[in-house]
Amino acid sequence: MTAQPVHGDGAALAIRGLRKAFGGVVAIDDVSFDVPAGTLTALIGPNGAGKSTLFNLLTNLYRTDAGTVTFFGTPLAGKTSDAIARLGLVRTFQTARVFPGMTVLENVLAGMHVSARSPIWAHAFADARARREERTMTRRAEALLDAIGLSAMRDRDATALPLGSQKLVELARAVIARPRVLLLDEPAAGLNDAETAQLARLLVAIHRSGTTVFVVEHNMSLVMGIADNVLVLDAGKLIASGSPADIQANAAVIEAYVGRATAVPT
Ligand SMILES: Nc1ncnc2c1ncn2[C@@H]1O[C@H](COP(=O)(O)OP(=O)(O)O)[C@@H](O)[C@H]1O
Ligand SMILES: [Mg+2]
Repeated sequence: MTAQPVHGDGAALAIRGLRKAFGGVVAIDDVSFDVPAGTLTALIGPNGAGKSTLFNLLTNLYRTDAGTVTFFGTPLAGKTSDAIARLGLVRTFQTARVFPGMTVLENVLAGMHVSARSPIWAHAFADARARREERTMTRRAEALLDAIGLSAMRDRDATALPLGSQKLVELARAVIARPRVLLLDEPAAGLNDAETAQLARLLVAIHRSGTTVFVVEHNMSLVMGIADNVLVLDAGKLIASGSPADIQANAAVIEAYVGRATAVPT
């Protein structure tokens, strides 16, 4: 099921000339790249590089100053974040956002609202088809909880879980509707080693099931272990892209991470 990377029109995401400034700070500076369909693409870069801003631009949480984003050829300009999610571009946030007052299982099931044909929540499962759909979804949610090691927590209030577990719940919620592309902003932040290993396995499984994964991540060993395509952002500019091996050997990338003790021509 490994899809060959495709470019331009065949890209899951095609980003061209993207720009965003906050006052005098140019957070995203003329950035262009593709996320090839079928890849597990990672975006790395120092704090403040513009990674979260980029995700906020892709999902129209922020207005772009210039540039375009297309999703499998469809321009995303002017679409609401909800409309973008319904197209199959789903994201998680750097800080976990579980829904309060809902159990862990309900939180995961809430991810279905972007694609369920019938409003299963509102109608108390009035007809057989809705009941079947609900059972299927519950089974899928339980399988996801199993994959993230949280089956025993399914009926607990989600906000009562440790933060790392809440992030895994959010991830399960993001994938239950089987998005075409999943955007993850630092999914390993705040996770312990066991949770990070669970996360890595889940990301690989999500990717193998056919979802294109685009992940911002600080944990280099996680990124280098699972990504097939790595992009590096520094001070709003894309400074490198390639395989994990290419990136690890790239002097500019090392410079961006170790600081600017030596002069860099920018
Ligand atoms: N909503 C905002 N208002 C003002 N400045 C912002 C906002 N969001 C991000 N920035 C600035 O944009 C730059 C990039 O931030 P961010 O995208 O959060 O970086 P990263 O996610 O790579 O750490 C930083 O200088 C940050 O202070
Ligand atoms: Mg960030």
